[in-house]
Amino acid sequence: MQGEFIFPAYAAIPESFQIKAPIEQNTYLIDGEMRAWDGAFQDVYSPIYIKNENELKPQRLGSFPLLDANASLEVLQSARNAYDLGKGEWPTMSVKQRIAHMMQFVKMMKEKRSEVVNLLMWEIGKSLKDSEKEFDRTVDYIIDTVAALKDLDRDSSRLKKEQGIYAQIRRGPLGVVLCMGPYNYPLNETFCTLIPALIMGNPVILKPAKYGILLLSPLLEAFRTSFPKGVINIIYGNGKDTVGTIMETGKVDVFAFIGSSKTANTLKKLHPKPNRLRSVMGLEAKNPAIVLADADISLAVEECILGSLSYNGQRCTAIKIIFVHEQVKEQFINLYLEKLKTLKCGMPWDKDVMITPLPETNKPAYLKELIEDAQQHGAQIINEDGGLILHSFVYPAVLYPVNKKMRVYNEEQFGPVVPICSFHSIDEPIDYMVESNYGQQVSIFGTDADQMAQLIDPLVNQVCRVNINSQCQRSPDVYPFNGRKDSAEGTLSVNDALRVFSIRTMVAGKDSEINKNLLNDILEGRKSNFLSTDFLL
Ligand code: G3H
Repeated sequence: MQGEFIFPAYAAIPESFQIKAPIEQNTYLIDGEMRAWDGAFQDVYSPIYIKNENELKPQRLGSFPLLDANASLEVLQSARNAYDLGKGEWPTMSVKQRIAHMMQFVKMMKEKRSEVVNLLMWEIGKSLKDSEKEFDRTVDYIIDTVAALKDLDRDSSRLKKEQGIYAQIRRGPLGVVLCMGPYNYPLNETFCTLIPALIMGNPVILKPAKYGILLLSPLLEAFRTSFPKGVINIIYGNGKDTVGTIMETGKVDVFAFIGSSKTANTLKKLHPKPNRLRSVMGLEAKNPAIVLADADISLAVEECILGSLSYNGQRCTAIKIIFVHEQVKEQFINLYLEKLKTLKCGMPWDKDVMITPLPETNKPAYLKELIEDAQQHGAQIINEDGGLILHSFVYPAVLYPVNKKMRVYNEEQFGPVVPICSFHSIDEPIDYMVESNYGQQVSIFGTDADQMAQLIDPLVNQVCRVNINSQCQRSPDVYPFNGRKDSAEGTLSVNDALRVFSIRTMVAGKDSEINKNLLNDILEGRKSNFLSTDFLL
């Protein structure tokens, strides 16, 4: 382990990744303009510390506005004006035109790849490879969403006739959407709700995650110029003043939130008319891996290393507890520790780096608490340097044997702590999942078809994705991403998201001479965007 040598001197950072000038984000996007903010600002510091003589200091990256309640209400009004109670330009625009706006945005977005990727590394400590992957995956998501919408539109471009009634059924927008993404995927997960919300005709208020805020700055001009005014608005600042104030008005129609259930519940409860609020949420998870006695151990280790420690374990889909059958526990643990030793620690731009600094300032202290609590209840750190902390950097701690008295058994650590339990009867990990507050995914490792099948059947009713001899993950984004219990509300995937942010609405009429003439007139004269049999190629 590299200990205190983990952080670089500024001169040692490759030039293309250096921060030439901090980003002082002193405007915010509202009503189609970048409005200057003259109130308070928040400084942004990187989790990356820079070595200077004998000192280590976090790199300052810039600042962003701390909007107050009044400014937040103006942002809400901007989105409401764009919707104009469903009469606005954006909600009544044809799908073809909305797609054209989105394609302009994605074209401009692609030009900002290197800036956004660099900020992903500096703001949240994500490796270069994963930051590039996050950017490219987001671009693909937009393209796939456009393709899915064209399919949907083709299906809806037909006039139906049932029981003597003509009807055209399409999906229409819902109203003002409040989108909040998480810090671990500040671009991808935020855009996974933002993009479908927009393209279905809803104006959006976007509140960036608590870290990964400045990386949106290079995209603001693309947002401003690609969409009609008020269709996309961005608010910065503390939650209570901004999103809290907006929710209390009852004028948010859809709440798209990826983060903790505690924050989600607090915000949802502020809405005075919960029946009017549609929500879609990705929340906490504590995905277990279950390694059976006949598992291919080297494959299980490979996947569990990736599952538990990719991006330092800061993925909602990460494997957050490992159950290993007692017959193979030594073999599994020894191989896991051997593999762990080969993982490279360093800065996000270092080649093949896996373990990097953590963005949450309180995270190292929280992980230390979890480790000490586990130790008090009988677990040991079984890897060399496990749990070593240097400012924002935490070397992974593997804890064994873990039991139910420990906090780490149930709490989502969201960081580089790997709890391992051994089991004798398969009922132990199954009971764990039944009793858990979470229900996102599980990974099961084994080779016996009968045993695996017997596990699959009960487990699909505990979680929403059972991964066979593979780590837990969200991708590919066309697959449903959801969860049970406190892990999610609603389902996201390229297709599902289009449904989440829209409602089926129809135009219908009895088969009469007057209606036939009217329909012909509207359709042939292409007089309506909704009532139309044109379809997109
Ligand atoms: O943090 C949760 C992300 O959606 C995980 O996505 O499993 O594809 O890394 P991923």
